[in-house]
Amino acid sequence: MYLPASIQVHAADAFEERYGERPFLIIRAPGRVNLIGEHTDYNDGFVLPMAIDRAVYMAIRPRTDGCVELYSLDYQELGRFELANIKHHDSGWLEYIKGTVWAMQTAGMRVCGLEGVLVGDVPLGAGLSSSAALEMATARAFTAVSNQPWNPAEMAKIGQKAENKWVGVNTGIMDQMISAAGKVDHALLIDCRSLETEAVPLPPGTTVVIMDTSTRRGLVDSAYNERREQCEAAAAFFNVSALRDLDEATFNAHAQELDDLTRRRAKHVVTENARVLKACAAMRAGDAVAFGQLMNASHASMQNDFEISNAALNTMAALARQQPGCYGARMTGGGFGGCAVALVDTDSVDDFVTAVTSAYTAATQLTPQIYVSPAQDGAAIVAE
Ligand code: GLA
Repeated sequence: MYLPASIQVHAADAFEERYGERPFLIIRAPGRVNLIGEHTDYNDGFVLPMAIDRAVYMAIRPRTDGCVELYSLDYQELGRFELANIKHHDSGWLEYIKGTVWAMQTAGMRVCGLEGVLVGDVPLGAGLSSSAALEMATARAFTAVSNQPWNPAEMAKIGQKAENKWVGVNTGIMDQMISAAGKVDHALLIDCRSLETEAVPLPPGTTVVIMDTSTRRGLVDSAYNERREQCEAAAAFFNVSALRDLDEATFNAHAQELDDLTRRRAKHVVTENARVLKACAAMRAGDAVAFGQLMNASHASMQNDFEISNAALNTMAALARQQPGCYGARMTGGGFGGCAVALVDTDSVDDFVTAVTSAYTAATQLTPQIYVSPAQDGAAIVAE
């Protein structure tokens, strides 16, 4: 079994080795897996992610000289900057930290200096939001040392601004929201327009299994941005501010007037938003079967209409569905590589992991990574 506590101890010990005392605070901010609701966040729609047991940890103490000094145990690299003079440098891990602090400052927040170490175990580039975890760990750490209140939705917006304007990736709000506001044992229904959330329990006796295909999305920021533009074009055609405002009946009534590509893109978003709400109803009713069917339908929509899947993700989802005890499976995250997610009967999980691993390896000659994760809390101070 995976023991996330050991990485927290590692962060604390590394801090002590470097600074000669125990850390003032340890912060943890998780990665995430999205159960359903893909590419709906930037359409002002609904998503249903959960925070996972993989996270970024920061062991820190305050500084009074306006400087920030952080040592990355993963990259074995020291990063430094001055709060009064934050500048773009390159594309490394420190840019996420600088960008988050910059976004806090530009929002008018008081930000004090700090120093310490950071370490993470969210797999990189797998679609489990290691960058949002780093942004939210940063926001949590700086609000703590600066005696500022922790408002998850406000901080998620700060993280998104860092990602959009500093790092330069035009993502929605889902990843930062779930890393900031996740609830243990629950998925979080997020209304990406109002940023209201509702914690929804997983169906009893089920477990979420994350299956990394070991394929990576590569240079596809352009494909992500292209999907955004296609969605915006569809919203403009229907004269709504975002596709969130389009129901299935109105879409169906006018769908034939759209060109084929725009129609399929919009169809995914409109039906996916509806699926998220149906999935929540299924979860509240403890109906794992209905939830699983919605996951399968979501995958088909991403494969055929939104066209963000790849062969490995399709194979992984199909193999997962063939296993006993699997209620449903779909690709998760931005797409074009990374992870699929399945809802599995808890008693069948061990056999499921073994069978999917060998079937996937046989089918693709790739070695998958499988993570069985309970739902965890969002960004928090875990020790002081
Ligand atoms: C990435 C983005 C999110 C969201 C998903 C797709 O993870 O960071 O904002 O758009 O893709 O659902």
